[in-house]
Amino acid sequence: MAPSTARLSPSRGKGYIVAMDGPAGVGKSTVGQCVAKRLGYHFINTGEMFRALTWKALEDGVDVEDQQAVVRLAGRLKWEFRPTEGGVTLKTFIDGQGVTVQIREERVSANSSAVAANPGVRRLLCRLQRRLGRRGAIVMEGRDITTHVFPNADFKFYLDASAEERARRRYRQLKASGMPAELSKIHAAILQRDLNDLKRKINPLSQAADAMVIDSTHLSMRQVAEKMLRMIRSKA
Ligand code: DC
Repeated sequence: MAPSTARLSPSRGKGYIVAMDGPAGVGKSTVGQCVAKRLGYHFINTGEMFRALTWKALEDGVDVEDQQAVVRLAGRLKWEFRPTEGGVTLKTFIDGQGVTVQIREERVSANSSAVAANPGVRRLLCRLQRRLGRRGAIVMEGRDITTHVFPNADFKFYLDASAEERARRRYRQLKASGMPAELSKIHAAILQRDLNDLKRKINPLSQAADAMVIDSTHLSMRQVAEKMLRMIRSKA
């Protein structure tokens, strides 16, 4: 897993860059937050950036398919990433506004892949992501973090799980929070999101050759986090 260029002692002063990719619903955020907390690092879910921009475009009546208009909007916004949840997780704020709740709206989920396929948006968000990683001590997850944003990250992980298992987990989550849920619909939506991520022309989801692949189909999130921590500590 360690690339030949991997740094075995943090070169960025304060700590390592831990990069994670994987498909939707695989538990990257749960695991990433846990790993970051244990290491005393910050955690960021980069999907939130794409979702925040999607939400803002929908709010402002900007057509998400109009690539130039969405890039102009992204460039006008003031992007901030502020620590919350005990100081571990960096949450996205645009123009001073936290958007944690809004970005989970169904219309945002439905439109975010159009925004994620926009090359200008990806360039801009990649710059912001690299800036966040500059000082190290960060766990960052998304779809292209190990392959494009930080190809020389100190640690690279690719989390995977079968689409059936990811659908079952989502179904159980929704049921536990008293929300209506239909397993077959959730499964179909997961397959569609996989397709959008894998078929995207620019920076599609793929496994970096030097990433450690963890299949979590039969593992708990805690077990996945422990595996990652063992790997990080053994090389650190
Ligand atoms: O992880 P998520 O489903 O919340 O991500 C929202 C959207 O952003 C989804 O269309 C995938 C996309 N995304 C991406 O293209 N690259 C990333 N690094 C993170 C997310």
